Amino acid sequence: MLAVYASAINRDDPLSGLTVGERPEPEIPDGWTAITVRAASLNHHDLWSLRGVGLPEDRLPMILGCDAAGIDADGNEVIAHSVINDPSWHGDETLDPRRSLLSERYQGTFADKVAVPRWNLVPKPPELSFEEASCLPTAWLTAYRMLFTRGALSPGSTVLVQGATGGVATALTVLGTAAGIRMWVTGRSEEKRAHALELGADQVFEPGARLPERVDAVMETIGQATWAHSIRALKPGGKIVISGATTGDAPPAELTRIFFLQLSVIGSTMGTREELGRLIRMCIDKGVRPAISRTVPLSDARQGFEAMLRGETAGKIVLTNS
Ligand SMILES: NC(=O)c1ccc[n+]([C@@H]2O[C@H](COP(=O)([O-])OP(=O)(O)OC[C@H]3O[C@@H](n4cnc5c(N)ncnc54)[C@H](OP(=O)(O)O)[C@@H]3O)[C@@H](O)[C@H]2O)c1
Repeated sequence: MLAVYASAINRDDPLSGLTVGERPEPEIPDGWTAITVRAASLNHHDLWSLRGVGLPEDRLPMILGCDAAGIDADGNEVIAHSVINDPSWHGDETLDPRRSLLSERYQGTFADKVAVPRWNLVPKPPELSFEEASCLPTAWLTAYRMLFTRGALSPGSTVLVQGATGGVATALTVLGTAAGIRMWVTGRSEEKRAHALELGADQVFEPGARLPERVDAVMETIGQATWAHSIRALKPGGKIVISGATTGDAPPAELTRIFFLQLSVIGSTMGTREELGRLIRMCIDKGVRPAISRTVPLSDARQGFEAMLRGETAGKIVLTNS
């Protein structure tokens, strides 16, 4: 079958290990099933994998992709929840120390077919296209948990999102706005800031800009490049919810400010199957849809990877398979 996979790891030149070619169809363990993939969205995670983060060389070749929407063996339209747990695990899936995402230990979604545990299948509602549905399981689910579960934010709060056009950043802006939260967004160019305004941001700022007032919470995925600004943006007692560190994880920690202003630093990772169900319900009830910046056929996946590497995003990049 056609697949997009990591054939080598290269920290500095990740796309040198990206291959589009034939791979064997997945084997289906007991309790698992196969999905015929119709759409799969790209995440920064796929670039991390090609750099060897979370993907050791001895697991290659590894089909990339965490997210998929497609058709299951019984002909149902489904979305794959990407968090794969140890079979003995009970409770919040994201807390299982042995969890993995599709494409880390088990082959990923950038292929004609992907195998997943039956439990990980979630019905795709007819209101969402396959392309839209494929954006939900990683970036959008992460944003949902950051805002509503870990951040526990209420309507009327003011929240700063660092980054305007990435997958998680656009999801935060759209979901927060739909929930009545005042979303302020930083973006690296005029065009990116304009995009955030189109998505519903209340105000936009250049990275590091002085804000009109301090905020209740900051949503962080960028790390080193924005951490100091994020900490300084918070009002006393405010919270920073972090799910990524795209530019590195060694910023000055700002310890004095954290204890003196009694700030909370809250980690957040992916989300549960139940949260995915609630996110889908929210998309339908509020009429919100993932922002998709480009859709390319699976065979042209390299174009999508190149765009993400250059930071040329305006929402999600989706690979389609007809
Ligand atoms: N913990 C989890 O479960 C989880 C889940 C999803 C994602 N993540 C992590 O979150 C991060 C974002 O993922 P994604 O898929 O949304 O990536 P993406 O689509 O590539 O978006 C990258 C974002 O980072 C910003 N950015 C990148 N480099 C920057 C720099 N040098 N200075 C300022 N801003 C910069 C961009 O801002 P502009 O709009 O200004 O370009 C953009 O919003 C990744 O590190 C990913 O691994 C973690």
